[in-house]
Amino acid sequence: MVSKKIESALNNQIRIEAESSQIYLAMAVWAEVKGLEGVSKFMYDQSNEEREHMLKLVKFINERGGHAHISELNAPNVTFGSFKEMFEKLFEHEVFVSNSINELVHITLQEKDYATHNFLQWYVAEQIEEEAVARTILDKINMIGDDKGGLYLFDRDIQQLTVVSSATDGSPV
Ligand code: FEO
Repeated sequence: MVSKKIESALNNQIRIEAESSQIYLAMAVWAEVKGLEGVSKFMYDQSNEEREHMLKLVKFINERGGHAHISELNAPNVTFGSFKEMFEKLFEHEVFVSNSINELVHITLQEKDYATHNFLQWYVAEQIEEEAVARTILDKINMIGDDKGGLYLFDRDIQQLTVVSSATDGSPV
């Protein structure tokens, strides 16, 4: 059974994961409209992963005798000044999510809720992976700068990054 405090903290994370899914969906759409298919596919996949992160929390709360709360969401940014800016936002957002997960883990220790603490370890590992992928992408984008040819090759190569990411990811749910 989850305490009210844990239930509320987990529900807050549900909202963050759902908003993450929307943020990346908006990025996918923007990239698609701009003609970068590889980047767009990467973002659609990211958006789907975030939805899985959300669903995993929903199931856990309900299984532990709580009630998962499906709330309204903040609207995401839908346009970006550049691809670099978009990937900077992706990286910053993943750091924000990692901090949020860390805070959740901290609360489970305060509450001595070791079942939830154990459950959250999957998210801790996932955030290490997600931050690493975002950092790798940002490094590449910084190398490319404004070079159109570089962006074309990057758009092709990012599909490989998606494959590597999901291969080390394990099962999302
Ligand atoms: Fe579910 Fe990318 O954090």
